[in-house]
Amino acid sequence: MRSHYCGHLNESHIDEEVTLCGWAHRRRDHGGVIFIDLRDREGISQVVFDPDTVEAFASAEMVRSEFVLRVKGRVRHRPKGTENPDMPTGMIEVLGKELEIFNRAETPPFQLDIDDDEVSEEHRLRYRYVDLRRPAMFQRLRLRADISRTLRDYLDGHGFLDIETPMLTKATPEGARDYLVPSRTHQGHFFALPQSPQLFKQLLMMSGMDRYYQIVRCFRDEDLRADRQPEFTQLDIEASFMDEEALMGLIEDMMRELFAKTLEVALPKSFPRMTYAEAMRRFGSDKPDLRISLELVDVDDLMSGVEFKVFAGPAQDPDGRVAALRLPQGCKLTRKEIDDYTQYVGIYGARGLAYIKVNDVARGRDGLQSPILKFLPDEAIDGILARTGAEDGDLIFFGADKASIVNEALGALRVKLGHDRELVERGWRPLWVVDFPMFEHDPKADRWSALHHPFTAPREEDIGKLESNPGDCLSRAYDMVLNGTEVGGGSQRIYRENVQATVFRRLGISDEEARDKFGFLLDALKYGCPPHGGIAFGLDRLVMLMTGASSIREVMAFPKTQTAACLLTRAPSEADSNQLRELGIRLRQSKVEKDGKGR
Ligand code: AMO
Ligand code: AMP
Repeated sequence: MRSHYCGHLNESHIDEEVTLCGWAHRRRDHGGVIFIDLRDREGISQVVFDPDTVEAFASAEMVRSEFVLRVKGRVRHRPKGTENPDMPTGMIEVLGKELEIFNRAETPPFQLDIDDDEVSEEHRLRYRYVDLRRPAMFQRLRLRADISRTLRDYLDGHGFLDIETPMLTKATPEGARDYLVPSRTHQGHFFALPQSPQLFKQLLMMSGMDRYYQIVRCFRDEDLRADRQPEFTQLDIEASFMDEEALMGLIEDMMRELFAKTLEVALPKSFPRMTYAEAMRRFGSDKPDLRISLELVDVDDLMSGVEFKVFAGPAQDPDGRVAALRLPQGCKLTRKEIDDYTQYVGIYGARGLAYIKVNDVARGRDGLQSPILKFLPDEAIDGILARTGAEDGDLIFFGADKASIVNEALGALRVKLGHDRELVERGWRPLWVVDFPMFEHDPKADRWSALHHPFTAPREEDIGKLESNPGDCLSRAYDMVLNGTEVGGGSQRIYRENVQATVFRRLGISDEEARDKFGFLLDALKYGCPPHGGIAFGLDRLVMLMTGASSIREVMAFPKTQTAACLLTRAPSEADSNQLRELGIRLRQSKVEKDGKGR
C-alpha cells in the first residue's frame, strides 16, 4: 500500500515517486494551492496539490483533520525560503498526483499538537485511540518496546528462560487486595488474579528451571497514585544457586546495558548501597532521591532536656524522633511559603513545622529568627547550628513526633523543597537499599507483618531471633531505587521448611491457615528446594522514569483512572443477571435498591 513512512522521507528521496499512507494532520489553502501535512507513526510529510492535477486537487479540497489518506506523488525540494530545518522532513515536500480518501473522520475531540496537560486526562483516556496518535505518546510506547526488547535480549543471553505463569490462581500475599474471579464450575469458589508471580517463580526454581524471567501483568486492588495502577507490568526474575551478591551484580549489569542501549546513558560502574536504617535516618525514606542533597539530622539528644514540650516529648520517647532539615539560602522563604510547607507536612500527620532562620551565624542566638528561639537554651542552639552546618542565609526546619511521622513528613518535604527550590541535580542516581527489617510491628493490632512478603529469607545470623526478637531481624531483601522511585524489589528466599514455618508463626499465620493458603509451597519445600532468590521491576515505573513522563499512565497504552476504571471501554460494568446466575452469585443489593428508587 505504501512505499515509505511519511516521517522517513528526506533529500535522498528527491525525484522519487512515493506512496504514503496516513492521517491528515493539517490542511491549509494557500492561494489556489493546497498543503496537507500527512502524518503516520514515524512523522509528518508535507504534500502539495496544485489545481493542474484536477482530480487529486478536488479530493484534497474535501480533506479535513484526521481523514485517512493515501497519496502518490514525487518528492522535491521545498522552494527556497520555505524549508524547515527543525523538521526531519523539512527540506522536502511531495507533489501530490493522486489522492485516495480511505476514510473520513469527525472533528477530533482535541487538537493533536497539544502537550499532555493541555486537555483533561479524562478526555484523553476517553478518546485514547486519538490521544495515542500524538507523537509524544508514540515516542513513549516505542521506547517502552525498545526497553522490553533490550531486557529480554539481556536475560535470554544470560540463560534465563521466559516461562509463563497462571493468571487464574490463588492469592499471592504482596500486601494489596486481590482481584477475584468467580468460578462457574466450582460455585462459591474464586480465583485470584496474581499480585505477582512470586509463588510460581519459586516453584519453578524447585522444578529445576534454574533461571526464569517473565514480562508479566500483575493485579493489585490498592489506592492508586501517579506511580501505581491496578494492573501493571513486572519484569520478574528468579535464579537458583545465585546469592545476593551475584544477583545484584547481574542486575546492575543489565541496567547499565539497558541505559546504554536505549538512552545512550552510562550508569555508574557499581551502584551504591545503603542500609534501610541509614536511608531512613538521612532521608526519612526507604527510596531516597540522591539527586537532592538535603539531609535530615538527628537532634534528639539536644532536645530531650529543653522546656519546649513539642520537642522534649518525642526526644524522650523511644519511638519518637526530633530531626532538623537545613535548607541552604532558605531565609528567602516568605511567611506564606513557610505556612504552605507547614500545611504540606500536615498531609503526613505532622502537627507543625518549626523553623529557625539563620541570618548571621557568627552572632549566635542574636543572629537567628524563630518563634521557638525563646524555648531553646544556648547549648541546644549551638548544637543545632554545628550539626546542621548552617551558614548565613539558611533556614532550618524541624520535625518532632513519632519517628514514622517525622520520617514521612520531612522525607516528603525534602523532596518537595528539592523540586521547588531547584535543588535537583540532573542525571541518574541508582541506589540499592539493603538490610531491611524482616517485620513491621502494628501497635494497634499488636501484630508483626512482613515488610516485603513472607517468603523473604532472614539473614542467617538472625534466624535465631525470629521468635525472640523479631524487631531486630534483618532480611536478605534489596530494593533498587532510581531517582527517588522504587523501580524494583527482591530478596533471597526461604528454602528450608522449618524457617518458613517459623516465619509464618511469627506473622500470626496458623499452621492450618498456612496449609490452606500455601500448602503447595510448603509441600514443594520438602521435595528438594535449591537456595534461590530474585527480583521484580515495575516496568511501567522504569519506562516512566526513562521517558521523563509524569505518571505511569503516560507510558501505558490503555491505563485506568485513579478510581480503577477504564473510561474508554467503561469497564468495570454490571454483569448480566444470567451470567451471575450461572456463577451462583446474587448481589447483596440490586442496582435499583442501591440507587434508592425501590422496586
Ligand atoms: P514488589 O511488590 O516490590 O515485589 O513489586 C515489584 C515492583 O513492582 C512495581 N509495582 C507497581 N507498579 C505499578 N503499579 C503498582 N500498583 C505496583 N506495585 C508494585 C514497583 C515494585 O518495585 N514478588 C515481589 C518481587 C520479588 O520479591 O521478586 C514483588 O512483587 O516498581
Ligand atoms: P506552638 O507552640 O504549637 O505554637 O508551636 C511553635 C512552633 O513549633 C510552630 O512553628 C509550629 O509549627 C511548630 N511545631 C508544633 N508542633 C510541631 C511538631 N510536632 N514538629 C515540628 N514543629 C512543630
